[in-house]
Amino acid sequence: MFEEVEKIKKAYFEDAKKVKTSDDVEKLRIKYLGRKGAVSSAFTMMEEVPNDKKPMLGKALNQLKTELENHFATLQQEFKASLNKRETIDLTLPGRKPNTGRKHPIAQVEDEIKTIFKGLGFVVEDGPEIENDFYNFEALNIPKSHPARDMQDTLYINDDIVLRTHTSPVQIRVMEKKQPPVRMIAPGRVYRRDTPDATHSPFFHQVEGLVVDKDISFADLKGVIEAFAHRMFGKDIKVRFRPSFFPFTEPSAEYDFNCVFCRGQGCRVCKQTGWIEISGAGMVHPNVFRAVGYDPEIYSGYAFGMGIDRIAMLKFDIDGIRTFFENDIRFLTQF
Ligand code: DAH
Repeated sequence: MFEEVEKIKKAYFEDAKKVKTSDDVEKLRIKYLGRKGAVSSAFTMMEEVPNDKKPMLGKALNQLKTELENHFATLQQEFKASLNKRETIDLTLPGRKPNTGRKHPIAQVEDEIKTIFKGLGFVVEDGPEIENDFYNFEALNIPKSHPARDMQDTLYINDDIVLRTHTSPVQIRVMEKKQPPVRMIAPGRVYRRDTPDATHSPFFHQVEGLVVDKDISFADLKGVIEAFAHRMFGKDIKVRFRPSFFPFTEPSAEYDFNCVFCRGQGCRVCKQTGWIEISGAGMVHPNVFRAVGYDPEIYSGYAFGMGIDRIAMLKFDIDGIRTFFENDIRFLTQF
């Protein structure tokens, strides 16, 4: 009888080793631990043994039962765990593409503008976004109390320090450090006290341009702006200058490009005029030269501004500036 117990035990462990599928696990349970399984059947031996052997056999059978039950429980656990593991690594699934970052559309356009101007012999300069009143206004011929200060809604940090309202102060910083000839652009972020809506943002991006040398004329300015327009938007785009006022230039102008959508024919975007306003420009005011110690009798120069966001809106056909700064992935991944 005790050999019978040993036999069952051996057979169970042999079978347990061969288990491969969840079906096998279940079959093993039925065969040994089920209601009519080998262990239950073994208990019927109790009826056949003499009374004095009953306690020993009972003990042996109970031991067998516990041992197999414990072993089976662990086996079942392990099997489940390995099954789960196998399910999470499904090699037949297509791979997941990682999200890659990309350059912001404004940065892309800024890069393109830089490339174009570098090709025209300009050097790229940089200046601080937190600026002294002197660089943002004073040296640009905008004295304290001058009404021209109202042209820009300034964000003041204190009486003397502002968030720069334009990239023009970089002109001053560069001229302070260098003697002519100067041929630079300065792209960067600028700030104004504006309530955000479709066309206004409290910050946006500009490029400042400055050329100073002997005998620089308005014709040189027109030539450079035109060359830029052709390279950025195509050779058929015409440029026009309209008289205007800026304190740091004299004479001053505003310049327009042919509408890039209708190419000058007139459409909804350009309100049928065929022209799109780009920014301002002009011949550097003698007072600006004096502020940096250049002799206006010897040197002349031109300066121009340019709105990067504006140009990006034209390039990508976007009608609101705000979309650039909301950082909506669905928008940004289109560029
Ligand atoms: N600073 C001007 C602005 O923010 C743009 C500008 C106009 C820049 C004329 C210039 C210029 O250099 O000559 O609106």
